[in-house]
Amino acid sequence: MKIIRTRDYKDMSRKAANLISAQILLKPDCVLGLATGSSPIGTYDQLVEWYQKGDLDFKQVKTVNLDEYKGLNHENDQSYYYFMHHHLFDRVNINPANTNVPNGMAEDGEAECQRYEDFIGSLGGVDLQLLGLGRNGHIGFNEPAESFAKMTHCVDLTESTIEANKRFFASADDVPRQAYTMGIGTIMKADKILVVVSGEDKADALAKTVYGEITPEVPASILQLHKNVTIVADEAALSKMPK
Ligand code: F6R
Repeated sequence: MKIIRTRDYKDMSRKAANLISAQILLKPDCVLGLATGSSPIGTYDQLVEWYQKGDLDFKQVKTVNLDEYKGLNHENDQSYYYFMHHHLFDRVNINPANTNVPNGMAEDGEAECQRYEDFIGSLGGVDLQLLGLGRNGHIGFNEPAESFAKMTHCVDLTESTIEANKRFFASADDVPRQAYTMGIGTIMKADKILVVVSGEDKADALAKTVYGEITPEVPASILQLHKNVTIVADEAALSKMPK
C-alpha cells in the first residue's frame, strides 16, 4: 500500500484529484469507480475546477458508483444518484448514459445486484476505484461482518453507520435501513484503488486498515492484499499510525 501524507482535507483532495486526473489523461475512456460521502467532495470540486479550465475531458469516461440506499429515488436529495449529479456529473462533460449507480428503486433487489455486478464485468472492470473509509472500517456499505461479501449485495446498515449518516437526513429515523453495495470481491477486482481519508475520527480505522489483522471485522483491511492501493490521508487521519 502506498500512503500519501497530506496537510489537511484540501491538500488531500487536490492530490487525490491529481491521481484521478492522471488516470483520465492516460486512458480517456477509463472506467472510474466512484464513492459518495464527505471524503470525496473536495476531490470532485477539484476535478470540476480543472475541467472548467480545460485541463480535463470526461467525454469518454464511464463511471460505476459503489452503492445506493434502498428505497430512495433519483429525485431524493439524499440518494447517491442525486449526490453524484450534484457534485460531479452535472458539472462536467460526462455523458449521463455513461454514469451508473445501483438502482435503489429496483423491485427485485437480488436481480438488481446481479445486473450491477454483470454490468461492471461487461465494461471490462474498473480501472480506478475511489473509496472513502468508514469509522468502523467499512468500505462501500460493507460493514464489519463474519465474512467478506464477494459480490454486489443488499445490506442492513449498522447503528454506527446510521448514526454517522443521520447528519444528512432530517432525523435518524429517516435514514434508510438498507442499501445496495458493491461487494468486497467487486472492489478488489478493480485495477487500482484510491482511498481518501481525512480527520481524526478515521485515525483508528486507518491504522487497523494498514497495520491490523486482515479480518472482515475491519472490511478495509482486505486492501492489504490488493496489488495497487494508494491511500491519500491527512495528518489527522494518520495520527494513530504506528511510529
Ligand atoms: C460512500 C461509501 C461509504 C463512505 C464512508 C465514509 O459511497 O461507500 O463507504 O465512503 O462511509 O464516509 P464519509 O466520507 O462521509 O466519512
